[in-house]
Amino acid sequence: MMNNATVATVLVLLYAGLGFATNQRKRAKLPRVGRAGPFGYAWTVLRSVLDSDGLVEEGWAKYGGKPFVLPSMSGEWIVLGPDDIEQLRRSDDTVFNAPERAKALFLPNTMFGNHLTDHPYHLETIIRSDLTKSLHSLVPEMHEEAQLAIPDHIPIISGQTSATIPLFSTMVHLIARVSNRAMIGAPGCRDEKFLQYQVSVAEEVIPMSQILNWFPAALRPVVWKLFCVTLGAKDRAVKLIGPYVKARIDYAQQDNPSTIVDLLLRYAPEEEIKNLPMLAARVVHLNMAATHTSGIFTTHALFELARLPPEQVEMVRTEIAAAIASEGGVLNKTAVGKFYLLDSLLKEIGRFHSLFAVGSSRVTLKEAVISDGTVLPPGSVVALAPKPMHNNPKTYSDPETFDPFRFTKLRTGAGTAADIQQSFTTLSNDYIVFGIGKHGCPGRFFAALKIKVVLAELLLNYDFSFPEGASHAPKPFSFNIFTVPNPTAKLVFTKRQRF
Ligand code: HEM
Ligand SMILES: *[C@@H]1O[C@H](CO)[C@@H](O)[C@H](O)[C@H]1NC(C)=O
Repeated sequence: MMNNATVATVLVLLYAGLGFATNQRKRAKLPRVGRAGPFGYAWTVLRSVLDSDGLVEEGWAKYGGKPFVLPSMSGEWIVLGPDDIEQLRRSDDTVFNAPERAKALFLPNTMFGNHLTDHPYHLETIIRSDLTKSLHSLVPEMHEEAQLAIPDHIPIISGQTSATIPLFSTMVHLIARVSNRAMIGAPGCRDEKFLQYQVSVAEEVIPMSQILNWFPAALRPVVWKLFCVTLGAKDRAVKLIGPYVKARIDYAQQDNPSTIVDLLLRYAPEEEIKNLPMLAARVVHLNMAATHTSGIFTTHALFELARLPPEQVEMVRTEIAAAIASEGGVLNKTAVGKFYLLDSLLKEIGRFHSLFAVGSSRVTLKEAVISDGTVLPPGSVVALAPKPMHNNPKTYSDPETFDPFRFTKLRTGAGTAADIQQSFTTLSNDYIVFGIGKHGCPGRFFAALKIKVVLAELLLNYDFSFPEGASHAPKPFSFNIFTVPNPTAKLVFTKRQRF
């Protein structure tokens, strides 16, 4: 154990030292956060593995929201502040490029195949436009799936009225099933073995992309292959989803699509339709973007609901019940559109609990000049820091307070543009949970609907409380730039009379 830790530390120091040495030549002239000198650099790299948030906070305070460098295991990030966000928002990939950066950070080509990024047809048309239109019919289906799945995930023993469950893993699995009802339809979305592997894919691929980045590019495919045949969930998930994707190819009505895979088939090139593993890999990859992100929001929301005064929870619940009643008792997209308090709660979750220390990263393809006049050489990586942006007292009054109804209070109720600005899925320079500009998350409408459907069903059927001795959720867990809710934290669900 000790030996492994020593070896790991030496490797990290070597890696960081190398990074420092090679970065000397083409670095922009910007201050760096963390201790000074080469050893300070190595120390900061180590610290970034578990405390990127703390480093970002430190850099932000020290440099007053002006650009600074954040070292990390996967290279240096230039953290940009409010003065540069507009330039990033408007960028069209010619100078600040998103796809190239995503390739370097997440290595989809190594792990899923070149076809994913060579021909990213699933991004533009499908998610951004067709999926958002299809959501009308998908909402009642996702609701039905949530109704079927929730009792499986919250098993209350007969004779008892409540169950205590580990919240994060349960929500991720529940979301995976509800999400796959939309993605591949039933019965595929109920194949527990497939869902298990699908959930594991993200848990392996994200950390592995970081680790593969430590290897020279030529070695990465070999290391990844070794990992896949020994431990990897990805090949198994691709294999298990295959028959369900095949069924859509054989029987789906592309002119009357009922799943997201049907939409994919409209645009998929012939060679990909004929090559099931290729198509299945794309679906598994898309599922990966759609599961944990939504699971994190659902988890934080339930922990916050358990902390709220009961009368505030009741307000959220009453509004949901009234909205469903006003649509003839159906939980459809129109009804969800009237869950204003829940929408505000989710938006506040995004403001208060960041998913990552730095996000919306882009790589410069050409020399670029930022607001303070600094010249960034090509190959520089820039990013935004959600936490300090969302804690800015100039934009948010009393930013340290979690206020579930913060954003409903800012609505006039007239449905004006200013009101729409307050909604969870609206992108803005002050709210960067879904990113910014052209590459802002295209799946956010789908995400918001499925999170709301799951939470509405839970709110109507359960009361939430902390296990004995706890009054709030324990500290979240951070790895590199990512932060997730504490994986061991539990919540008590108590069955209530339905409205
Ligand atoms: C609460 C849930 C979610 C959050 C917080 C989230 C957040 C994000 C963020 C921050 C980005 C990067 C934006 C940027 O670079 O400026 C992104 C990109 C993306 N997201 Fe999401 N996302 C969520 C759910 C989803 C879902 C459900 C899907 C799939 C249907 C999805 C698909 C994607 C895709 C494909 C991209 C890449 C877009 C591009 O590069 O053009 N996301 N997401
Ligand atoms: C929701 O259901 C109501 C009542 O059946 C209907 O009037 C409304 O058009 C539906 N909305 C959608 C988006 O399907």
